[in-house]
Amino acid sequence: SMRKTLIFFVNDIKFELENVDPDLTLVSFLRSKGLTGAKVGCLEGVCGSCTVVIGKWNHNYKNAKYISANACLLPIFWLDLCFVITVEGIGNPEKMHPIQERLSRGHGSQCGYCSPGFVMAMYALLRNNPYPEENEIRQALKGNLCRCTGYRPIIEAFNTFSSKNKSVCTGCPGQVNGQCCQIKSSPSDFVKDGLTDIYEQGLTKWKDFQKYDPTQELVFPPELIQT
Ligand code: FES
Ligand code: FES
Repeated sequence: SMRKTLIFFVNDIKFELENVDPDLTLVSFLRSKGLTGAKVGCLEGVCGSCTVVIGKWNHNYKNAKYISANACLLPIFWLDLCFVITVEGIGNPEKMHPIQERLSRGHGSQCGYCSPGFVMAMYALLRNNPYPEENEIRQALKGNLCRCTGYRPIIEAFNTFSSKNKSVCTGCPGQVNGQCCQIKSSPSDFVKDGLTDIYEQGLTKWKDFQKYDPTQELVFPPELIQT
């Protein structure tokens, strides 16, 4: 028999809904539940301020695949057995996600309206690919508009996750005895190793910030894996 209930998770909250309004969009639903991290900008899929992450189990690969999505365009009836991750699910002002911390410390936020969308677009990328290349980071952000920062600080902040960025420990698998294979403890070490250019180039001095550990991310809800 056909299941009549729509089942999905938003962060750690399970929703089971019946008779959903076919016009109800995810961004309206989230905001009606007090989850106002996804912002409403254009309501037509242009600005990315409503970006959330959608995870779905792939039975062939036996893992979850994540995409970023404009919650203003998504009817919730589309979300059966989906794992919706919003900015509230990944961090808060007391315990920021490394993406949020780097965006903030890298001066990638001014009015901040676009910021949750940028954070979630980056989060989708890291869920699928924890050690991206810089061009992959740019690709991942191409659906997000910012009217304040001019993008440079946003890109610089997120490039710290790039596997090629030698000024920052990305937590890559190249660690030796728990030590970062790239980062040096002080600017003088960078000078010695000829890494001054990279260290000095950016807008921010990247020291003393959280490492990114992909093993600490939210787990795909086992209840959503149906055989
Ligand atoms: Fe602009 Fe959704 S509100 S893309
Ligand atoms: Fe204002 Fe991006 S910080 S729109």
